[in-house]
Amino acid sequence: MEVTLRILRYEPETDKAPHWETYKVAVDPMDRVLDLLIKVKADQDGTLSFRRSCAHGICGSDAMLINNRNRLACRIRVDQLGKKISVAPLPGLPVVKDLIVDMDGFFGKYRSVKPFLINEQPEPERERRQTQEDRARYDDSTKCILCAACTTSCPSFWARPEYVGPAAIVQAHRFIFDSRDEGSAERLEILADEDGVWRCRTIFNCVDACPRGINITRAILEVSSAIVGRHG
Ligand code: SF4
Ligand code: F3S
Ligand code: FES
Repeated sequence: MEVTLRILRYEPETDKAPHWETYKVAVDPMDRVLDLLIKVKADQDGTLSFRRSCAHGICGSDAMLINNRNRLACRIRVDQLGKKISVAPLPGLPVVKDLIVDMDGFFGKYRSVKPFLINEQPEPERERRQTQEDRARYDDSTKCILCAACTTSCPSFWARPEYVGPAAIVQAHRFIFDSRDEGSAERLEILADEDGVWRCRTIFNCVDACPRGINITRAILEVSSAIVGRHG
């Protein structure tokens, strides 16, 4: 079968603004959008630029706006989209070229929540132990691959780019609810800031966008409750 693939192109050195280009591509219904982009680059226009690495939904590098929803190009197939497919860069981030966005701000917010284990106690002889129940407490948030699909689908983020965003909150949740961690108070203080969790208006776009099926709004709610309960 053949699909009509529209791609929002932008070459900062020559273009004043992004513009749509249309390509006809021969595909198999089981092809993924990433396969289509690779075909266009190989057969029609070698200058097309996009990020990808693993091609199997693990690295998080090829999130983009596909038929108006944030999706991983390596996960979504033609048979899920139909014969007309549009692909644009993730919304709300500066475009570097074509489908490549500048992720520096996104990763800056990720770093701001201290996404690593903080524990000043002497290292035990073997590992720092925890019960299965304690491990289960943050299991969902360990699944995040930092693809940015959630944060860039969030209208609160579009309206105020300083909002730390759902991805950073999920990453903070991963450590806040880890029984071995001692940095929760610090992280909760950061997320209680005016650009922290309170910017979430429970719009739920983030949940729809997450390729890992993470219950992001639950994580945000748990972090908000922990902030409220701090001085209780
Ligand atoms: Fe991507 Fe989901 Fe992590 Fe957000 S929470 S960055 S959508 S994997
Ligand atoms: Fe945004 Fe998700 Fe909250 S879309 S407003 S972070 S529920
Ligand atoms: Fe790695 Fe799609 S290329 S997640």
